[in-house]
Amino acid sequence: MFKTWLETNEKEILYRDCESQDIAQVVALANASLKSKQEPHYFERLCNGRNPFIVATWQGKVVGYAAARLQFKDKQQFSNFTTMAVSPEMRGRGIGRALTAKLIERSEKIGTAYMRGDVRDGNDHARALYGKLGFKEEPYGTFKDGEGKFRIRKDFSNQPQDWSM
Ligand SMILES: CC(C)(COP(=O)(O)OP(=O)(O)OC[C@H]1O[C@@H](n2cnc3c(N)ncnc32)[C@H](O)[C@@H]1OP(=O)(O)O)[C@@H](O)C(=O)NCCC(=O)NCCS
Repeated sequence: MFKTWLETNEKEILYRDCESQDIAQVVALANASLKSKQEPHYFERLCNGRNPFIVATWQGKVVGYAAARLQFKDKQQFSNFTTMAVSPEMRGRGIGRALTAKLIERSEKIGTAYMRGDVRDGNDHARALYGKLGFKEEPYGTFKDGEGKFRIRKDFSNQPQDWSM
């Protein structure tokens, strides 16, 4: 299905906002990558033109996505980083980092106070990636299946550094 990475390069990866016709590919990618079953309506609701939702495409195919939901807490708008995946064949090439960086940029530009999300204890790759992009993490209970959960958070400029999430 894919050319090998040696036959392509990162300049061929395009990043753009999610469109409704991407959803089927995004759902397939999510289900191939994440532990819990992912439903189309979840992504359809996220992809509404207001939430930060970026897809990475290669030769017209979606090879990665990252999405956040805009929410309010204590009168502050924040960006809830809910989901991200990169196609297994395309991992380790900087796509996850680029998607996360673009989501951060978008969330900050919208004016949110901070970006937050949850990550599994055993997801070393994602945790390393978030750490490199400036997210702080702290233990935050467990997921339904009992695996430890970390809450990650990145505060944006000129916002109170309040950790009561
Ligand atoms: C997490 C995920 C999105 C990363 O995407 P990716 O495109 O492979 O990530 P990148 O190539 O941009 O790597 C960014 C950083 O992640 C870490 N990382 C990624 N792949 C790694 C690997 N195979 N080994 C060790 N670290 C790795 C590194 O810290 C890397 O930084 P570096 O490039 O400076 O070494 C991808 O592994 C994935 O889809 N995983 C399954 C779904 C998932 O876990 N989603 C996140 C839920 S919170």
